[in-house]
Amino acid sequence: MPDQPKPAILFVCLGNICRSPLAEAALRAEAEQAGLAIHVDSAGTGDWHIGHPPDRRAQATARRHGMDIAQYQGRQVEPDDFRRFTHIFALDADNLRNLRAIAPADATARVGLLMDMVPGRQGQAVTDPYYGNEAGFETTWSDVSAAARALVGRLRGAGLKGTGHSQRFSTPVTDR
Ligand code: 4NP
Repeated sequence: MPDQPKPAILFVCLGNICRSPLAEAALRAEAEQAGLAIHVDSAGTGDWHIGHPPDRRAQATARRHGMDIAQYQGRQVEPDDFRRFTHIFALDADNLRNLRAIAPADATARVGLLMDMVPGRQGQAVTDPYYGNEAGFETTWSDVSAAARALVGRLRGAGLKGTGHSQRFSTPVTDR
């Protein structure tokens, strides 16, 4: 059997300063706890926050959960991400649509909605907390942590291309 590539997971939201950095931090935390070696990153579909640190409310939320994300830097999704990452998770349907629209013809990454990984939460968005209050960031953390736990569970078990609703991930983006 050929070697499976090491999982490389990219989380994508709009600005890359609120939701996707928290998703990145949550997966780093879960993977470390599980002793899983994976590559994790985050990016935005928009370009407003390139080079910026995460929103201070996101930083504070991560800190409350034991993660320091102050050094993360916003970046925009680029064509090579679709070849470098094995899986790209959009935080909501708009970002998923945008990802599919910009995917290069030779994309190899599997692209899907993050909450599809969480039983009972399929099709749901991780709500954008940017225009809300601090409490919204705790909800974001709770959502992305649930997804991170589910992802680690799959990566430890049959992998992301297994059965059940992970079938949603069995179609390469180029087959859409
Ligand atoms: P994010 O939140 O997509 O979760 O990082 C946002 C951050 C910034 C903006 C929108 C959403 N913005 O319009 O600048």
